[in-house]
Amino acid sequence: MKEPATSSSSTHESSPEHDANSTLLGVINCAQLVTLRGAARPRAGRNEMRELVLIEDGAMLVRDGRIAVVGARVDIEPEIKNNCEVIDAGGRIVLPGFVDAHTHAVFAGTRVDEYEMRAGGATYREIAKTGGGIRATVRRTRAATEDELVETAKRYARWFLRNGTTTIEAKSGYGLTVEDELKMLRAIRRLNDETPLRLVPTFLGAHEVPDEFRERRAEYIKLIIEEMLPRVAVENLAAYCDVFCEKGVFDEEESRRILLAAKRLGFGLRIHADQLSLGGGAQLAAELGAATADHLDHTNAEGIAALRAGNVQPVLLPGAVYALGLNRYPPAREMIDAGLAVVLATDFNPGSSPTTSMQMILSIASTQMKMTTAESLTACTINAAYSLNLGNETGSLEAGKLADFAMYDCMDYRELAYFFGVEHTHAVYANGQLVYQRT
Ligand code: NIG
Ligand code: FE
Repeated sequence: MKEPATSSSSTHESSPEHDANSTLLGVINCAQLVTLRGAARPRAGRNEMRELVLIEDGAMLVRDGRIAVVGARVDIEPEIKNNCEVIDAGGRIVLPGFVDAHTHAVFAGTRVDEYEMRAGGATYREIAKTGGGIRATVRRTRAATEDELVETAKRYARWFLRNGTTTIEAKSGYGLTVEDELKMLRAIRRLNDETPLRLVPTFLGAHEVPDEFRERRAEYIKLIIEEMLPRVAVENLAAYCDVFCEKGVFDEEESRRILLAAKRLGFGLRIHADQLSLGGGAQLAAELGAATADHLDHTNAEGIAALRAGNVQPVLLPGAVYALGLNRYPPAREMIDAGLAVVLATDFNPGSSPTTSMQMILSIASTQMKMTTAESLTACTINAAYSLNLGNETGSLEAGKLADFAMYDCMDYRELAYFFGVEHTHAVYANGQLVYQRT
């Protein structure tokens, strides 16, 4: 994972004392500093998810890319010395960088044509059946070089940053051959190295059955298990393995076999579950000890109970429901009331959810899923970070963590969701470095 680019050691002590070799940054004049400070675990259920630990007129001291002190301005200002660069937030709100725990950010081409067909009444499934959908992006992604994929995705990386997102999970899944899946994962690794965005890679060879295997799907599953997964493991190209568990794509038993093979190789597990229909994916996630089950638009009470029993974090992706023009959103309230540590993400991809904007997701979560903005912010920062095993590094503003934060032109954090469709971002920092500033 990306570390702050500094010369000094990475000890996490939080004393503000200055030493000659370290770089110090003082952030002052924050109308609200939304810290999300709390126990070192995801926030579960209504009470914890509403606890943002706001500091009015807050300030922060950053040393060598990590947060050193967070508190009230009156307490921190005296610590800000001459040799400290001062960032005046100008009375804006300051939040942790968003952690987007479900994206398909590497792909070639777009599917604007399908978007138009859907406006004309065609459904996502109908388009997919006739060779469009994921398979259309697969054809284009196979034809692209690794360099081309990196170049295209750098544009999207800039969009994530300018929307306040400093970490994303990114999946393969548009290659569907050994070499094309590796090409996608290498592109994801390069994006992590060559842009200020932090990327966590997920192998999604089981995103769809590719054209050449339509009549012999068992062979494609064999290819995933016997060739793709071992190669990805040997080259250390992914932290997680994901499967699109859905009627007509990979059924429960096929998904189980692939995920079990991945688990044996040491991958963490994530599952596209119950997106378009109820299919047992939530129970499967619990059975296999997956980190997350994602989408869950059709999950019922038994699925929710299974997630709870299996300690699986639900990753809700309302952008896909919205952009597909559907109206069945995942039962977020029931999940929160059941005590789950809910995550919200964009699902950025060229088909079902072409957005990098977490601010848009906050708006949809509020109007369509009845989540309060506090719950939503917890879901796309600290809870998302824990779902990627990064909860000790990012997702909240606390001493010792990476200095990933963003300033927005709002006086109250709730304006982020309320004034929708407006890009509120003023400036974004990752590892204590300025990575976006509105000009
Ligand atoms: O999360 N559901 C499967 N995968 C994506 C869609 C990918 C695509 O349409 O290209 C999703 O919605
Ligand atoms: Fe997805």
